[in-house]
Amino acid sequence: MIRVQVPATTANLGPGFDCLGMALELYNVVEISPAGRGLTIEVIGEGSSEIPRDERNLAYQAALRVFRQTGYALQGLKMRLINQIPPARGLGSSTAAVVGGIIAANLLAGGKLGTKEIISLAGNMEGHPDNVSAAVLGGIVVAVQAEGEIKYLKILPPPALKGVVAVPDFNLATRTAREILPQQVSFQDAVFNIGRVALLIASLQQGDLSLLSTAMEDRIHQPYRSGMIPGFKKVLAATRLAGARGVSLSGAGPTVIAFADGNFELIARVMQDTFRQNGVRAKVMVLKPSPVGARALEIK
Ligand code: HSE
Repeated sequence: MIRVQVPATTANLGPGFDCLGMALELYNVVEISPAGRGLTIEVIGEGSSEIPRDERNLAYQAALRVFRQTGYALQGLKMRLINQIPPARGLGSSTAAVVGGIIAANLLAGGKLGTKEIISLAGNMEGHPDNVSAAVLGGIVVAVQAEGEIKYLKILPPPALKGVVAVPDFNLATRTAREILPQQVSFQDAVFNIGRVALLIASLQQGDLSLLSTAMEDRIHQPYRSGMIPGFKKVLAATRLAGARGVSLSGAGPTVIAFADGNFELIARVMQDTFRQNGVRAKVMVLKPSPVGARALEIK
């Protein structure tokens, strides 16, 4: 049996659309073992009522790609998914399934794929490199598509930094949240984001959170997505007032993530209350960045 643990991820961190991701200490586990024939999938925890247990399952599809790519002769497969990451909320649940499926299958097939190939395969399945790179490598990752591959660099998160997440009780499919985005953005908005993303990287690398609030502003995706998340702008404003260093949509949403180095409980309560005042029930969690990415917990 092979057991792989994959962290949740928050993508974009505000202005870094499709190129920044951070791993968080909340994990999904993918277990696989070869079986005589057929496919059995068990899902425990988050998403257990909605995640398919047949060939449509994302972790299985990811595993299948590895078996095909590596020429592994699959007979039957048993798969168990033990999930802590809420599905379709902007915390990288689909990435965790894809990365977990790929890494587990790769180990079963003899470990032929290296880190770069794993990231590339997962990035192709997800369609953007930010979550997958952070899920595989841990920490904060800058990742871009260039010359047909994903190029990435990892930054270690500032030690005192934690993420406070408010997870609304409704799903938002990434596809829907991408379809709403414009085909073009203005030169001014591009300049606005470039400056902020540069400031954000400098802040994170130096562990200087004093300008994080400005550094996490965004004009190229959040304004378009905010209409799908009741109270979004008010939650952002209230969270800043409660002492968050910076706040943004987590990935494609609907989760909002605040970064802070203190006042975590107050920030969490303010986020939850503000969502509630706007008719949204939200679960709150305080999560440390995960310095480690996906890893095998058991191979036997
Ligand atoms: N960068 C992606 C997006 C992340 O914002 O659509 C999706 O999880």
